[in-house]
Amino acid sequence: MTNITLLLIVIFLTTSLFVNSKPISRVDFPSGFTFGTASSAYQFEGAVNEGNKGDSIWDTFTRQPGRILDLSNADTAVDQYHRFKGNSSSEPYIVGHNILLSHAAAYRCYQLHFKGKQGGQIGITLDSKWYEPISDAEEDKDAAQRAMDFGIGWFLDPLILGKYPLSMKKLVGERLPEISQGMSKLLVGSFDFVGINHYTTLYVRNDRTRIRKLILQDASSDAAVITTSYRRGVAIGERAASRWLHIVPWGIHKLLKYVKDKILHKPDSMISGMDDLNTPFISLSKALQDDKRIEYHRDYLSNISAAIRQDNCDVRGYFAWSLLDNWEWNSGYTVRFGLYFVDYRNNLTRVPKASAEWFKSTLRLEDNLKSQL
Ligand SMILES: *[C@@H]1O[C@H](CO)[C@@H](O)[C@H](O)[C@H]1NC(C)=O
Ligand SMILES: *[C@@H]1O[C@H](CO)[C@@H](O)[C@H](O)[C@H]1NC(C)=O
Ligand SMILES: *[C@@H]1O[C@H](CO)[C@@H](O)[C@H](O)[C@H]1NC(C)=O
Repeated sequence: MTNITLLLIVIFLTTSLFVNSKPISRVDFPSGFTFGTASSAYQFEGAVNEGNKGDSIWDTFTRQPGRILDLSNADTAVDQYHRFKGNSSSEPYIVGHNILLSHAAAYRCYQLHFKGKQGGQIGITLDSKWYEPISDAEEDKDAAQRAMDFGIGWFLDPLILGKYPLSMKKLVGERLPEISQGMSKLLVGSFDFVGINHYTTLYVRNDRTRIRKLILQDASSDAAVITTSYRRGVAIGERAASRWLHIVPWGIHKLLKYVKDKILHKPDSMISGMDDLNTPFISLSKALQDDKRIEYHRDYLSNISAAIRQDNCDVRGYFAWSLLDNWEWNSGYTVRFGLYFVDYRNNLTRVPKASAEWFKSTLRLEDNLKSQL
């Protein structure tokens, strides 16, 4: 056997071992790591007007005529649009500012009055994509950093450093509320852990069209970035049902490293998941066979495991979004995120999908140990 052949065989074996090593189990995570599922009262309960509940802003928003594409309703739609439209160049920053203030106040109040008796932990859960530069060009790397600043940095920086990211100060200017010294003190360190809501990754390029920024001065264009799921026509990862959700497991690894470098010694937890289309035309058995969801969680979990082992990220838990199919904020019942199928036409019967069974067997410790022997 020539050395080359031997080398090729070794490469082949290593590759197949790597591929075969993909199954993930509880033993790939530190003891005490929490696995769970996530749910949300608004999206699950459907109790719009029970128990004296009034309308929330989202109830109103989803009932706007503009939300359903009814063109015979066009004038009313425009009227409603103006009525509900705020000032998107300043109000998002005021809202963000007030969320930070109320979070810090709640944290300090708990520390002062309840922590001693109850011993609870208070954290904040932030939604974050990972933003990957679309090229090696400095301007795109800077753009990706800005996208992170205007995403998770908007809230993490004040909680860690007591100030907004520099790029936000520069680009938003006077529309960004001032963090006073007193507020800064209140904010810094006001969390015991960070929760991260993460589903997908986007490419980012610098938005050179300054003109666009001058005309449309609003929170969604202030970062001066263009985000996309495609590079030279190739998707960043396989798409789920929602257009914004491409499956990019390596993104969660990079995000965890990024957050770890920012928050230093505080632990974090993840919420993650993907959706299928609510298709009335396929059989129940087909709808239950959600292999793509299993692959999603398997690859996201193996990347989290790698972040813990290789990069010392202190991740304490993983919560699959979602326990049941439910009402998605923008898409209603057209998409399904659940580990359990909800039969909306048959008395809301709940049936475990293949992914629910997969989680069960993946997490069963005795079986994991047996398979290792
Ligand atoms: C929106 O807010 C900005 C900044 O406060 C202000 O300059 C602008 O005039 C406002 N626009 C409208 C339509 O009220
Ligand atoms: C991480 O995700 C990539 C795909 O994005 C996948 O190929 C890989 O197997 C995953 N696991 C690890 C440990 O990197
Ligand atoms: C639907 O479910 C409810 C609650 O479990 C039950 O009381 C009711 O009889 C069911 N209806 C039908 C048609 O199965």
